[in-house]
Amino acid sequence: MVIQGYPDPGAGLRLHLNENTGGCSARVLEAIRCVKPSDVSTYPSYPDVVRATARHFDVDPDWVLLTNGLDEGILMAAVAHIARARRHDAETIIPLPAFDPYPNSTAAVGATAVRVPPDADYAFPTRAVIDAITPRTRMIFLNTPNNPTGQLIAPLDLEAIAAAAPDAVVLIDEAYIEFGGTTFLPHMAKFPNVLLGRTFSKAYGLAGLRVGVVIGQPKVLDPVRAVTLPFNINGVALAAVPAALSDSEFLPRYAAQVQESRELLYAACRRLGLQYWESAANYVMVRVGDTAPFVEALAARKIHVRDRSKDPVTPGCIRITAGMVEHTRAAIDALELVRQTQ
Ligand SMILES: Cc1ncc(COP(=O)(O)O)c(C=O)c1O
Repeated sequence: MVIQGYPDPGAGLRLHLNENTGGCSARVLEAIRCVKPSDVSTYPSYPDVVRATARHFDVDPDWVLLTNGLDEGILMAAVAHIARARRHDAETIIPLPAFDPYPNSTAAVGATAVRVPPDADYAFPTRAVIDAITPRTRMIFLNTPNNPTGQLIAPLDLEAIAAAAPDAVVLIDEAYIEFGGTTFLPHMAKFPNVLLGRTFSKAYGLAGLRVGVVIGQPKVLDPVRAVTLPFNINGVALAAVPAALSDSEFLPRYAAQVQESRELLYAACRRLGLQYWESAANYVMVRVGDTAPFVEALAARKIHVRDRSKDPVTPGCIRITAGMVEHTRAAIDALELVRQTQ
């Protein structure tokens, strides 16, 4: 029997989905408490929240599409630019390792994924991505910082790829950009073929409310808006978003925790003789060797991390969320105990 829903690991510290381990802004909770019965009983209306989001990103409101998590934005971009456009021989280019919704959305719209392996040490394979572009390329999925490696794509490389594929849609997924790297946002005016993906799930801590943002010039965004269902953001989430945006202290405070946590994880890996990759995001990928007993031993201590070893591009690796320092310290204590018993 298959039951809908992502598996819940049970009680303990959730370091397996790159969520915000510190929760969300108190202003968000206050805004949710103020939700009125009519906000619940009526279909949601977006224009004010779209305008607030556009102001935050300093773009026109017609450059903004709110989606039910960035996951939905990724799928809808593929539906709009591949399925609805009836591109039956379409290819997408997916640099590896990659976030699952890129190949899944590619498959959902009947396109073929062209996977490009990383350069040495997970460096971004700019040359190989450009070489993979063909007249059949409809979408290119770029993710900076990369999930799961935490590696960045240089802005000049993003520009080079976008310029090399003027007939394809280049989706730049910046789900973790608040933790490191520089956003592509200021370059968007030059690229009518680029969609930029952001999310309220990570730095803002709203994963449970499901709000993502797709930003792009109307020419590339309008087709995505046309296929997106009209009431895809619920009324509670719409109350939360302006509150999250209004709390200018929440993000830098959490980003500082993440930075300290990453440093603590690097130091622990050095002590324990584990290979790791310095990350620009709120997680660190670590090579532990045989992952299953390692992950199980951590889970037995109620620390849940992501096993990445099934992906042939990240053999022997786990990914650990780096959030609040107190949580990271607990994870490191468990890592040390597990390592001692190996
Ligand atoms: C690279 C990347 N993009 C997008 C998302 C989607 O986030 P959400 O659908 O919660 O907005 C995630 C979430 O894990 C992610 O890792």
